[in-house]
Amino acid sequence: MIETKRLLIRKFESKDFKQLYNLDSNPLVHKYLYNSPMKSYAEAKEYIQAQLNQYENYGVGRLAVLDKKNNFIGWAGLKFSDSMINNKTNFYDLGYRLKPNQWGKGIATEASKAILDYYKNLKNICGIASVENIASNKVLIKSGLIYVNKFIDPINGKFNNWYEFN
Ligand SMILES: CC(C)(COP(=O)(O)OP(=O)(O)OC[C@H]1O[C@@H](n2cnc3c(N)ncnc32)[C@H](O)[C@@H]1OP(=O)(O)O)[C@@H](O)C(=O)NCCC(=O)NCCS
Repeated sequence: MIETKRLLIRKFESKDFKQLYNLDSNPLVHKYLYNSPMKSYAEAKEYIQAQLNQYENYGVGRLAVLDKKNNFIGWAGLKFSDSMINNKTNFYDLGYRLKPNQWGKGIATEASKAILDYYKNLKNICGIASVENIASNKVLIKSGLIYVNKFIDPINGKFNNWYEFN
């Protein structure tokens, strides 16, 4: 459990699937991703299982972000990737998604900073954001990542910015 001024950040649990679905089935949340919001609880359960695998295999993973009243408001965290992206591989990607009613309050930055601090001994932490996703680019910069380069996402043909933490 990581605690910040406003947030509780913990590993996903199987029981979180409805809350996760509620977040990730919203097209607004997927606007700068691949425009493929979740369509079923089964997808949400699969996603949580993938995070449980990340915790076990790599000691990282996306984490549930809750307010101090224990309400699920989104997720944030590192994902280990051995895919080749932007000519890099074996990196930890910082990501986050929040419910729209939580946007614009500095929550993604607060969660990201706490997570980066928790994992401060880890090398090869990066962040990727569509150039169009102004909020996400700002979060990465405010969390201390440094812009490295632009590259074309092979899946949607759009430009992404690549950032590194260390
Ligand atoms: C990206 C996301 C997590 C940002 O969360 P957040 O808690 O609102 O971020 P913060 O409040 O910490 O910072 C956002 C910054 O972007 C700005 N911003 C937010 N929306 C914006 C928009 N549509 N256009 C321009 N700037 C915007 C905010 O004003 C703030 O700027 P500031 O620091 O200068 O005040 C949230 O928008 C989200 O969940 N989006 C959908 C999922 C997503 O795109 N994830 C990232 C994939 S790479």
